[in-house]
Amino acid sequence: MAEFYAHIKASSGAYKYFCNGQWLESSSGKTVPVTNPSTLQKDYQVQACTQEEVNNVFAAAKAAQLSWAKTPLWKRAEYLHKVAVLMRQNAQPMADCLVKEIAKPAKDALTEVIRSADLIDYTAEEGLRSLGEGQLLTSDSFPGQPRNKLCLVSKVPLGVVLCIPPFNYPVNLAVSKLAPSLMAGNAVVLKPPSQGVVAGIHMLACFAAAGLPAGVVNVITGKGSEIGDFLTTHPAVNCISFTGGDTGISISHKAGMVPLQMELGGKDACIVCSDADLDLAASHIVKGGFSYSGQRCTAVKVVLAMQDIADELVAKVHAGVAKLSVGRPEDNADITPVVSEASANFIQGLVEDAREKGAQFLTEWRRENNLIAPVLLDHVTPDMRIAWEEPFGPVLPVLRVGSIDEAVHHCNSSNLGLQGCVFTRDINTAMRVSDAMQTGTVQVNAAPARGPDHFPFQGFRDSGIGSQGIKNSLAMMTKIKSTVINLDKESYTLG
Ligand code: G3P
Repeated sequence: MAEFYAHIKASSGAYKYFCNGQWLESSSGKTVPVTNPSTLQKDYQVQACTQEEVNNVFAAAKAAQLSWAKTPLWKRAEYLHKVAVLMRQNAQPMADCLVKEIAKPAKDALTEVIRSADLIDYTAEEGLRSLGEGQLLTSDSFPGQPRNKLCLVSKVPLGVVLCIPPFNYPVNLAVSKLAPSLMAGNAVVLKPPSQGVVAGIHMLACFAAAGLPAGVVNVITGKGSEIGDFLTTHPAVNCISFTGGDTGISISHKAGMVPLQMELGGKDACIVCSDADLDLAASHIVKGGFSYSGQRCTAVKVVLAMQDIADELVAKVHAGVAKLSVGRPEDNADITPVVSEASANFIQGLVEDAREKGAQFLTEWRRENNLIAPVLLDHVTPDMRIAWEEPFGPVLPVLRVGSIDEAVHHCNSSNLGLQGCVFTRDINTAMRVSDAMQTGTVQVNAAPARGPDHFPFQGFRDSGIGSQGIKNSLAMMTKIKSTVINLDKESYTLG
């Protein structure tokens, strides 16, 4: 299995980038290290590509896209199914990278790879159907028009899609951009995140090995400070699909007139009503708040508990948190080190602010390098940063509220509006809350989650632009093209 990936590494041990069907070393002669969040060792090196190499990658993608767009849909689907097979066959080394690069628990790492292969297969199937369908309009459906014009509407590719996934799902959220882009007839340039980059290169190797024509898929690596803006403002880019943090906002300010698909995080609120099943709510809050150490855009980021059930709910959540194991990703611990020292420092800052402002700590603060034990905070108040900011770490604040309206008001006052959830036994309450919550998705009686991957996924306000999910991504990565057939008026009305 390891031999499958042998060619993506240079003799120096650094991973290569992929341009126009070739695995290459950068002419810069420089590499960028990747720090293991658990051991703080620099386990991997990737190429520090230059702006000239970025130009080469886009030139290759632009040229290759022209014939890729003419490749039959069934053939594109065939390539994608082959990629999915290769990913399943060669999943373990890719999953091992996720463990070492981003401290993802080993079991979850493998799940991410397999889930991604499934996503590719589904995209191929969905693309065959949805991209193979068009529309026919006749002119006489508009007032006063004769019936001699026929408008054929089809979906055509955008061109070159720049795909920038985040560190927390460097395989799955890369594939969710690559597969629909390719199925829709676009070429892609992948810029993996700084951590998760090696897993991303392994994933790209499966696309390369499936025999996609040279230039259709490419991966470029390097320092954001040197190639970041150059990539996102490059004139060859026809669409940007980005998942990550605030960087997305600056990308959207600088990007030209290209479609943007952005998912920029969430402060996902969990409203627990007085009539809720508290055991169900507590188990979802613990899992939703702390899986992958809270480093998910869809993690439960604030609990809004009705006063009358708050004591009981918090006790149940506390009991669940106490059972979480803290340790190494290799051992499948529930809580593993957060991605970087900067991230751990940011989380600590939020926790210290909450302590100064009087939050009640139900767990003891413990930090060893990037490993932070789960933090459960009760009696959090709106003046605390943690009530509004996204820790992206194992910290869960509970705010006690007097009414559902107050909870919804808190949720809607956030600049982030990705997902939210409500726990209640009353479907009317659930629908009323869902209608009132200004978030892209509301989950009823379950914690927020992006998947299954074919569900629409979108954020309101600063949480994003556009909608993801396989069908929506396929639609987003195409544009509408009309061909109007102007028939001779008389002959078309004969008989
Ligand atoms: O953090 C990114 C977001 O996509 C999380 O996905 O599948 O963990 O809900 P998921």
